[in-house]
Amino acid sequence: MLSHISKKIVLVGTGGTIAGSAARADDNLGYRAGQLGVEQLLAAIPGAACGPCEVVTEQLAQLDSKDMSFAVWRQLALRCAHWLGRDEVQGVIITHGTDTLEETAFFLQSVLPVELLSGKPLVLTCAMRPASARVPDGPQNLSDAFALALDPRARGVMAVCAGRIHGAAQVQKVHPYRLDAFDSGDAGPMGFIEEGLVRWVNPPVCSESVPVQPAGARGRVICGVEPEVTLLEWLQLSTRWPRVEIVMNYAGASGSMVDAMLAHASHDPLRGLVVAATGNGSLHQDLEAALLRAQAAGIRVLLATRCAYGRVLPRTDAAFPDSCGLAPVKARVALLLELALAKPQPR
Ligand code: SIN
Repeated sequence: MLSHISKKIVLVGTGGTIAGSAARADDNLGYRAGQLGVEQLLAAIPGAACGPCEVVTEQLAQLDSKDMSFAVWRQLALRCAHWLGRDEVQGVIITHGTDTLEETAFFLQSVLPVELLSGKPLVLTCAMRPASARVPDGPQNLSDAFALALDPRARGVMAVCAGRIHGAAQVQKVHPYRLDAFDSGDAGPMGFIEEGLVRWVNPPVCSESVPVQPAGARGRVICGVEPEVTLLEWLQLSTRWPRVEIVMNYAGASGSMVDAMLAHASHDPLRGLVVAATGNGSLHQDLEAALLRAQAAGIRVLLATRCAYGRVLPRTDAAFPDSCGLAPVKARVALLLELALAKPQPR
């Protein structure tokens, strides 16, 4: 290491297609995710893309992100907190599968304290083609992630893919194949990476003001009650996560799945339900009846829309609270974190 280098970028590998490998270079589908180590991903981009920083690598996991687990999330949050808390670290980049990237981004933004993110970027990046592809997209995305992490205005949790920068609360995978697979819904992207330079259109604001949870302050939580521990402290202490499931409304939906979950005696009882409702929070009458039974039984029910754009508009006569614009998968993360810190309610 050269003595004039003082700042570090930490590159954390978790697997995904960006680290995927197929038997043939023309096979973009029949590959295994999470095969190449993070050092190999780094070796595939020009050294100049990393700027003047020393790059520290850490292989935290090697998985297909469809199999993302609470255990990996916990470890990831604790390692990000460790690295972001060090003065010499300018930012952290995570390589991740595209399938649950938006959930991980939102989870990290929710649990990491504002103090750690308000001045430093945490950038997730990914690829839609495996590293073994004839024309892989991973190296360009990783180079762009470095450009973003090195930008003086970058802060908070962001995702970068196909030259577009997305915020953690907005980012959503919207295409199963296209290289530009992500979208930020109504908000639009935060910016673009062009020829190694960041062009902001919606630059990060002071991260405290980003509403990411149904209520309350990021990294502390929620529900109007000041908890005794922060989310990070809870993560350090706990390996048990409240069980929160997602149900969807659709033509012919019934309440049978909700009733079955309520009836099922388990060592891990259901604590919350997010419903991916149709349109502006509409529900089949049978599903709504079952959700009211669940709510009466003490299960927290949160209403989100299954529409890709927009949000459920709040109504004073709504039977269930809405997700404050969070998509169902993110509303689930917010609700389980809220329940994690809530004092158990007597049933
Ligand atoms: C994954 O999510 O790990 C596999 C799919 C991808 O990265 O595109």
